[in-house]
Amino acid sequence: MTKIEQSQFSIPKKLEKLQNKLLNLRQTGKLLLQNGDVGIASAPSNIALIKYWGKNKLKFQEPDNSSLSFTLDHFRAQTNITVRGRFFPEGDAPEYVPENLFHLTDSESQKSTEVIPEKLSKFLKRILHPYANDIGLKIESENNFPTACGIASSAAGFAALCFALDNLLNLEKHFSLLERQYWLSQWSRLGSGSALRSTCLASSSKFVSWELKKNGSSEIKNISYHKEWNHLQHCVLILDSKEKEVSSSSGHLFADTSPFYKIRLSYVEENFTKFKQAIEEFDFDFITKFTEYDAFFMHSIMHTSTPQAIYLNTETSFVISEFVRFRQKTKIKAFWTLDAGPNVHILYLQKYHAQIKRFQKFISKEIGRKIKVYE
Ligand code: DP6
Repeated sequence: MTKIEQSQFSIPKKLEKLQNKLLNLRQTGKLLLQNGDVGIASAPSNIALIKYWGKNKLKFQEPDNSSLSFTLDHFRAQTNITVRGRFFPEGDAPEYVPENLFHLTDSESQKSTEVIPEKLSKFLKRILHPYANDIGLKIESENNFPTACGIASSAAGFAALCFALDNLLNLEKHFSLLERQYWLSQWSRLGSGSALRSTCLASSSKFVSWELKKNGSSEIKNISYHKEWNHLQHCVLILDSKEKEVSSSSGHLFADTSPFYKIRLSYVEENFTKFKQAIEEFDFDFITKFTEYDAFFMHSIMHTSTPQAIYLNTETSFVISEFVRFRQKTKIKAFWTLDAGPNVHILYLQKYHAQIKRFQKFISKEIGRKIKVYE
């Protein structure tokens, strides 16, 4: 086996160094994997308050703008990885390499998926090659929330998968905390950029930023926050649970064709520090205004890019306008946001739970069918 070439994967030099360290551990017999070895982990989903939309096409999963999310600790993916086959001695090749298997279930439908998605298959090849190309993995993942419900299941899924690999490879023993955090954040973003914001190793990571640095690289940071945010609750009103027609990954690629793209980039970067400060100072009104602006800003870019990506429907506009009216009347501390889909996320302080319930009922009545809510 040869050292990992930068050109082969075009991964950052620092990550390449860590991958080579793993290769070396394997070659010296310190990293052994065999049939039945397991790695287990779980990870939360997250909802972006400042959205990641658009990426640098020349770099290894680097965003064009900084983003910041609220961790949805109660919406989790739990992943178990079991090794199939075993490591062969240096120079020896197995006659047969077991294939990777995938099994995904979710809370509601108990629906299970058996086919390994192409994105996941490629991801596994990249992350494990070349130090583990003689084994297969059985991946069993379970979301404690419905997969197609407008909660970023890929964020929780890829984060949990990376944590489970970290557990299987026993990185805690071989890597420093900083190295592990780097390894996790680099690989999870390859699965899904938003997954990176779910891989903070800090014990309490309520708000996580993914920040652009001057040199064009980026890193995640655990944002310190005012203790009042401990009372922030989240719910999502499901207006449509069908899978989106344009995936986020392809949307990112044509985002820069929108005339609003550059305007948003500078707007976000200019206000990013203020946003973090508002989290520290519990400036609820600033967070409300900026989060709602940015959701509309992102969707304006989606609507004006070529090709267009329209995720919203008429019910989305209805729910948002009624919510704003309701908030003005009741004076509750609450705000809405959107992901790449029509479902409306609401974040509110716990003491307004009864009012939010009332609003949910009102929406079902007005729309004329029971609107599912996950919280
Ligand atoms: C609208 O993380 O799904 O949810 O990196 O290509 O997998 P890839 O994209 P993905 O994009 C997330 C977009 C978003 C906003 C956000 O979570 O920041």
